[in-house]
Amino acid sequence: MGAARLNSFDDWVDYFRAWQKDIDLDPSVNSGYTFEAKYGDLHGPAIEFGDFKGDRKWEKILEVPDQRIRDALLHLITYQGDTEFASVEQQRHLLATAPTPHDLEALVRVMREEMRHGWQMCHLLMSHFGDSGRLEAQKMLERRATRGERLLGSFNVPVENWLDFFTYTQFIDRDGKFQLGMLSHSAFAPLARSMGPMLKEESFHLGTGNNGLKRIVRAGRLPIPLMQKYFNKWVPTAYDLFGTDGSSSAHWAYVWGLKGRFDEDQNPHPAERDRLNEYARGLYAEEIRGLVEALNRDLPEGAPPLYLPDEKFNRRIGEHAGGRFAVDGRPLDEAAYARHLAEVLPGDEDRRRASAIGREEGFILPRQA
Ligand SMILES: [Fe+2]
Ligand SMILES: [Fe+2]
Repeated sequence: MGAARLNSFDDWVDYFRAWQKDIDLDPSVNSGYTFEAKYGDLHGPAIEFGDFKGDRKWEKILEVPDQRIRDALLHLITYQGDTEFASVEQQRHLLATAPTPHDLEALVRVMREEMRHGWQMCHLLMSHFGDSGRLEAQKMLERRATRGERLLGSFNVPVENWLDFFTYTQFIDRDGKFQLGMLSHSAFAPLARSMGPMLKEESFHLGTGNNGLKRIVRAGRLPIPLMQKYFNKWVPTAYDLFGTDGSSSAHWAYVWGLKGRFDEDQNPHPAERDRLNEYARGLYAEEIRGLVEALNRDLPEGAPPLYLPDEKFNRRIGEHAGGRFAVDGRPLDEAAYARHLAEVLPGDEDRRRASAIGREEGFILPRQA
């Protein structure tokens, strides 16, 4: 893909088609599907929190009262959009190894909807943000997960097999639900309106992950410690997605009304503005803890229970970034930590075994009614 100058949304659509070709996306993923921007309802007409609380939400970028606020908004939309296209780059090769026709259908739907989410974010950028929006919408189709160029860690990690896919949709798409929920309270009305339809679609992705893991556990063939290794691989990257501790950008996004708390409309307490990322991560951790407990109720006799790695384990962002902690939170010295990582993360033999899910009869139950 050469350097282009995107003057209109139609130009962007051409660029999007070129991106699909460039990542070698199977054309069947598009067939019968119409990509479109969808705008739903606002939680309400007035800004819900922060310094502008009570003012009318901003419909146009010129109504946004400060250049710094416009820049922060551009940044939030760009980061969200980047994850959407990245996930398709990560997942597209799994079309060839779907364990059942139902799973193939689910994967196609997930990829279509992620592309629609990226389309939606680019529609915002192209419609409201002038030259800088056009440039970001273009660059979004030029970075590649496969080259490690995506903006956030989880989206540069290879998704190699269907155990990866179900773990990813369970934990990483679920992070997406939290991010979209927080943006649904945004003072910038076109962004807030984008979130309803996206959240609806996102819930199918999470369900796909949760269900897939449940079907594997209930089938009783995959060793549970192997599934645990995939949890260890993905959950720390999901924690990282909530951002740094004591984040000033989360603070300002809140003060400016751009990104609320996930439970903004139900939480009667004032926000702790310097602990917003920690708060969101805590809500997320609580939710996934419940899901892991539910999976444990379906374990085969004698299997060791699944668990979430400690929040300090293998973090790249936040106060424990680069620390050497075990999955149970114990601090380790350098040599012990290297050995530990080799034990608790998927190795070559684990990856070979995991890739059998798509091929071996009985590893996963058929779709549950
Ligand atoms: Fe998405
Ligand atoms: Fe998703």
